[in-house]
Amino acid sequence: MTVKTTNRIEKQEGFEVFRHAYRAAIKEVRTKIEILSEDFAVRHDYNPIHHMERRLKIPASIEEKLERLGKEVSIENARDNIFDIAGIRVVCNFVDDVYTLAEMLIGMDDVKLITKKDYIENPKPNGYRSLHLVISVPVFLLDGREDVPVEVQIRTVAMDFWASLEHNLRYKKSKEYPARIDVELKACAEVSATLDKRMQKIFDELMELE
Ligand code: GTP
Ligand code: MG
Repeated sequence: MTVKTTNRIEKQEGFEVFRHAYRAAIKEVRTKIEILSEDFAVRHDYNPIHHMERRLKIPASIEEKLERLGKEVSIENARDNIFDIAGIRVVCNFVDDVYTLAEMLIGMDDVKLITKKDYIENPKPNGYRSLHLVISVPVFLLDGREDVPVEVQIRTVAMDFWASLEHNLRYKKSKEYPARIDVELKACAEVSATLDKRMQKIFDELMELE
């Protein structure tokens, strides 16, 4: 009987230190966003951020992703190939808020943009919409500065509503669901995009009245 132990990433030397850098990076980005959000509340009587969520990829998901990428399971390969070990999701009220927040974040001089995928401008074929950024932020640890990547998903409440329900449905189903369900889900995504546009218009009109 062979026991598969060497492949377990959390058993490899240095894994806890490796993981800590990502935990710290999440804190850094969260704080940046919280400060922006509070600044908005102080200056304007309006806060673009509805709420924020964060997650650190669990070791089993890191292993699974490396295997999917055809890479050997190692800390080195995880560092070089996986950019969503640290993840933050920012849910905004309106579509314009998504872009305002993204620009403010990217504009910070200690933040580096690694990749940007605009699934709002170009939704996924199933209807999924969100703005995905991978940024890196400096984290200061015992052995010095490390620039750590964080995936930031920015979306509206309506996009988040669709994505969470679609995610639940996808994981709930025991078999492939029929094609008409895909069509229906996509139609719902389009309704939600229309709703976002109408709500944005209402917001803009109210702003002009002030
Ligand atoms: P991953 O290996 O899954 O990280 O894919 P990727 O690196 O190609 O990134 P992608 O731009 O597809 O976005 C990945 C993340 O966005 C996922 O982990 C989800 O959180 C979210 N996401 C992407 N597509 C969908 C979708 O169709 N439905 C939902 N609910 N979430 C999605
Ligand atoms: Mg991912």
